[in-house]
Amino acid sequence: MRVLGIETSCDETGVALYSERGGLLAHALYSQVDMHALYGGVVPELASRDHVRRVVPLVRQVLAEAGIAKPDAVAYTAGPGLIGALLVGASVGRSLAFGWAVPALGVHHMEGHLLAPMLEAEPPEFPFVALLVSGGHTQLVDVTGVGHYSVLGESLDDAVGEAFDKTAKLLGLPYPGGPALAALAEHGNPERFRFPRPMTDRPGLDFSFSGLKTFALNTASEVGEDAQGKADVARAFEEAAVDTLTIKCRRALRDTGRKRLVVAGGVSANRRLRARMAELEAQAGVTVSFPRPAFCTDNGAMIAYAGCQRLAAGQFDDLTIRAMPRWPL
Ligand code: KG4
Ligand code: ZN
Repeated sequence: MRVLGIETSCDETGVALYSERGGLLAHALYSQVDMHALYGGVVPELASRDHVRRVVPLVRQVLAEAGIAKPDAVAYTAGPGLIGALLVGASVGRSLAFGWAVPALGVHHMEGHLLAPMLEAEPPEFPFVALLVSGGHTQLVDVTGVGHYSVLGESLDDAVGEAFDKTAKLLGLPYPGGPALAALAEHGNPERFRFPRPMTDRPGLDFSFSGLKTFALNTASEVGEDAQGKADVARAFEEAAVDTLTIKCRRALRDTGRKRLVVAGGVSANRRLRARMAELEAQAGVTVSFPRPAFCTDNGAMIAYAGCQRLAAGQFDDLTIRAMPRWPL
């Protein structure tokens, strides 16, 4: 089975073709970041309109690259995400499937992220614990198979990516904030400020990142426009966020007894997080898997893959165009 995957939940139009036998045959991505950067963040209506412009040409490109006229099924992101953006991928995906007379399936965006490491050369085996860290979600999930997810803990307020983005903004960094903050943190002195590690001093696997952002706001007002000061704030924020995630991962592995950890979602591209996870791997005797950096952030390949697993298991939707801005995993 060859599945066309379409991702349009936020500000990237991603399209890919995944084959059950041949793996990833083609993938293409158009990022809207330059357009949204003018406004300092994602403008939902502009995002929807740009997906409309990009998605069909990307589908054509991917099919041409894979050398096939039509796929055997279509998977599209049905949520969670921006409703207008989701509706574009959902309408196009469902309609193409109808025209081609093949099945279609709406996929959960976070399931896409969760399964993205399966696209790598040495995919993790089930069961594992997954840390999902994106702009909208921070979750620890116990995974025993495709579709078998139990949420162990999640953020009670801001997602970690959102905290990166908001802290970057208050430091005057351009959108998208996460990578810009990480780059600035490279020049920061880790000894100058120490930020709290929220909710690590009590039991449980939930997170809270809004306090960290407030801490950054207060510390940033201390350093004012001083460039080194800003880098030091960025570094202290990054250290605290990454340390908090690492502490909770160690705890989740201990509580569940799992020996494998998957880290996925936009923030899993963060170099310091990857380095800390490599330490955890060595210390705790576990294996940690990441998607390749290009598949940490939003992409069509993860949707094609997740869709393929479910379609191959016999799941598909009726003719409804499914778009759910909120949708629990
Ligand atoms: O998964 P993703 O592309 O979209 C959502 O599903 O939200 O994640 C985007 C998030 C943004 O908050 C972005 O700032 C963050 O991932 N991000 C990073 C890095 N690259 C992306 N955060 C920290 N360090 C990075 N290198
Ligand atoms: Zn995402």
